[in-house]
Amino acid sequence: MEDRMQIAIDGPASAGKSTVAKLVAKKLGYVYCDTGAMYRSVTLLVLRRGVAPDDAAAVTALLPEVHIEFKPSADGQLTLLNGEDITLAIRQEDVTNNASAVAAIPAVRTELTNQQREIAAKGNIVMDGRDIGTTVLPHAELKVFMVASVEERARRRFLDNKEKGIDVSVETLEKEIAARDYKDSHRETSPLKQADDAVRLDTTPMSIDEVVDSIIKLYEARQ
Ligand code: CDP
Repeated sequence: MEDRMQIAIDGPASAGKSTVAKLVAKKLGYVYCDTGAMYRSVTLLVLRRGVAPDDAAAVTALLPEVHIEFKPSADGQLTLLNGEDITLAIRQEDVTNNASAVAAIPAVRTELTNQQREIAAKGNIVMDGRDIGTTVLPHAELKVFMVASVEERARRRFLDNKEKGIDVSVETLEKEIAARDYKDSHRETSPLKQADDAVRLDTTPMSIDEVVDSIIKLYEARQ
């Protein structure tokens, strides 16, 4: 794994990680791995099976049935769960709001962390999530911890949702984001936390292009 170049981008909900990580990967010709999509995929299966998202034993029992793949397409990267295209389904509000409970289950984290390391072992990678710099890829060449104010993150999520036809008020989104931040930072296994050697980037006043450019500059400075 040592000869692979790795960029780890972590941070709280809706800080813009996936948008930025995708663009950075494209610019560098690296593979992009959206680990949030993986936790969301397990959550979708849990909800479809009528399993309670915080029932660790029942969720763990479902893990052998979870086969996640990323597939490039003309419309961007698709997420497949057992061969089914679930790219849009995993962005629904019920999946979003239950993902933190599922992601707090240690067996889920162990399984997905192993899969993420296998993906990273195949080539140069940009990976985004909550625990990439701390747990999944602790030797990444560059670690970025992206933050933004809750108000700004709710505003960004609102605009994203609008494009997807999802109608939730900015006030509700602020509450949901704050609740998810709390759960993600207070769980026992691999909580959301800035790695000691990560660069903190407050993106509140920055455009997407500005964030992408600063990450590319940081990366080049490390080459
Ligand atoms: O896009 P957004 O920031 O809303 O979330 P996401 O990155 O798609 O992640 C969804 C949920 O998965 C998060 O709220 C976390 O609970 C969990 N997650 C995690 O625990 N560890 C990761 N490496 C990535 C996501």
